[in-house]
Amino acid sequence: MAAALAEGLLVDLVPYGRRFLDLEHRWLNDEGVFWWAVGGRWFATKAGLERERLEDDHQRHTQFGLQTKDGTPIGLVGINWMPPEHRAAMLTAFIGDPAYWGGGYGTDGLLLLLQYTFDWLDARRVWLMTMSLNERVVRQMEKVGFRLEARQRRATWAANGWHDMLTYALERDEWPGRAVLIERLGLQA
Ligand SMILES: CC(C)(COP(=O)(O)OP(=O)(O)OC[C@H]1O[C@@H](n2cnc3c(N)ncnc32)[C@H](O)[C@@H]1OP(=O)(O)O)[C@@H](O)C(=O)NCCC(=O)NCCS
Repeated sequence: MAAALAEGLLVDLVPYGRRFLDLEHRWLNDEGVFWWAVGGRWFATKAGLERERLEDDHQRHTQFGLQTKDGTPIGLVGINWMPPEHRAAMLTAFIGDPAYWGGGYGTDGLLLLLQYTFDWLDARRVWLMTMSLNERVVRQMEKVGFRLEARQRRATWAANGWHDMLTYALERDEWPGRAVLIERLGLQA
């Protein structure tokens, strides 16, 4: 079992390594990618994925494995892009196994990622984009306190229809801290 870099209530952030890479290949060819890639479908090969990960620009990209308390790897969270001159971090989150969706794991992971990004990396703001169809993310953004900053109308095609693309952001002075949010959301182990 990988040692935790940050300990949550339901999940830990752990180093993203071989265990995750092998599973990510499966996840990327499964249902979750439709949501992650906003209506997209991929055909990911192990070799392609490995090459992509090795070539990642670690100055701008940080990825953590998301692991349940019993050591099961379920997904990843990270920063896709954070230009140091702006200190604005674009976040990503992907629970690969749908059995773990909607159970609070993603929010627990998001709070750990926010703590790392604001308190350790000293980011000024975090942001992400999703499609309006992705109700889990919309709900998560609302409950954690992100603001809806932009709506691109009918910008993406998914599930036989056009959907808006939504940009959500949270600035550091709007982040009350992990402990406050855990209490506010009633997140429990
Ligand atoms: C996005 C993701 C990381 C969120 O993590 P999660 O563990 O599923 O989210 P949580 O359970 O913490 O929170 C989701 C909220 O949406 C609610 N929800 C779940 N399914 C829902 C649905 N079909 N419709 C509306 N709300 C829903 C949950 O009840 C929860 O709200 P609550 O705490 O008020 O009950 C995860 O669902 C995921 O990886 N999905 C696939 C990939 C993806 O969409 N990535 C993000 C792309 S922008």
